[in-house]
Amino acid sequence: MPSGAPHPGAPMAGLGHGPPSLGARLRAFLPGLGLIRSGKGVGVTRIAVLGGGVMGEALIVGIQRRVHPAPVIAVAEKRPDRRADLIARLGVQAQDAPEAVRDADVIVLVVKPQDIRSLLDTIAGHVAEGALVISIAAGIPTALIETALPGTHVVRAMPNTPARIESGMTGISAGARCDREHLERARHLLTAVGAVAEVPESAQDAITSVSGSGPAYLFYLAEAMITGAVEGGIDPEQAREVVAQTLLGASRLLQVSHEPPQELRANVTSPAGTTAAAIAAFDERGVRQALIDGITAARMRSQELSAG
Ligand SMILES: NC(=O)c1ccc[n+]([C@@H]2O[C@H](COP(=O)([O-])OP(=O)(O)OC[C@H]3O[C@@H](n4cnc5c(N)ncnc54)[C@H](OP(=O)(O)O)[C@@H]3O)[C@@H](O)[C@H]2O)c1
Repeated sequence: MPSGAPHPGAPMAGLGHGPPSLGARLRAFLPGLGLIRSGKGVGVTRIAVLGGGVMGEALIVGIQRRVHPAPVIAVAEKRPDRRADLIARLGVQAQDAPEAVRDADVIVLVVKPQDIRSLLDTIAGHVAEGALVISIAAGIPTALIETALPGTHVVRAMPNTPARIESGMTGISAGARCDREHLERARHLLTAVGAVAEVPESAQDAITSVSGSGPAYLFYLAEAMITGAVEGGIDPEQAREVVAQTLLGASRLLQVSHEPPQELRANVTSPAGTTAAAIAAFDERGVRQALIDGITAARMRSQELSAG
């Protein structure tokens, strides 16, 4: 991080917009988005995490750190080396999927979409009546899980990889047998890895194309910005820090400011200045439309995958 940069978690100083300060707005904004940094009141005693890969681990770590009182976490993971690693590093119980779900009040499905059907076959008949099932498998509709697991309440969720550092964005949708309490329970658990937004299930493809895939768009932009920085003579390591802090600072400003992004952009774009030169080059090459087209392509691909 460049010297002098505020810690990402530090309150922001007022930037001359008059009261309330941006710092105050940030503090007021976080709970509204679901960025409540605790899982208090969840009332979950045992969680079965089925699939101990990248996202499974992120969820386990977030829940261990943020949910109090700490529930027992059982993980079912196919690969023996990975299973041993999770036991050693995270202290979780490792069991076969049917055993893991038996007394679980919450079951989290964290396997690849193509593995969901066989996993559901394996656990059907072992799941406790009334269990909450949270599925993060991309493109798998709640109806499919409800049919396979009668008596459960299913929430579909789409997190993203910043969940690994508890800075995720997760879109959640209620299945047909969910009431507000089920959805709130899922929300509380998932806030352990970041912010949560409730959307209708019909909007899950849009969530996938924006926040699910979104980190990759930012990394794509970061690659280009680092290239530009290095071409301009900045050391590659330093270029990475400069770019990361620029993206982080701009994101936080967008998050807490009342101004629309166009206005925030206009604030750094003086006529005939450097930013204006960059934006003109982007516009000339149709960068904005290319980004919109990319997001549409991701949404359509998500729809195709959901349809099987
Ligand atoms: N990564 C993301 O950015 C992201 C974001 C949002 C949602 N998701 C969703 O999260 C889910 C998991 O993604 P991931 O990136 O964490 O995948 P991953 O790293 O491949 O983890 C899944 C793990 O589950 C294991 N597994 C498969 N079938 C199993 C079974 N029946 N019982 C126990 N373990 C089983 C897999 O073993 P094998 O490798 O041996 O099959 C693998 O180790 C996917 O559905 C994906 O759509 C991912």
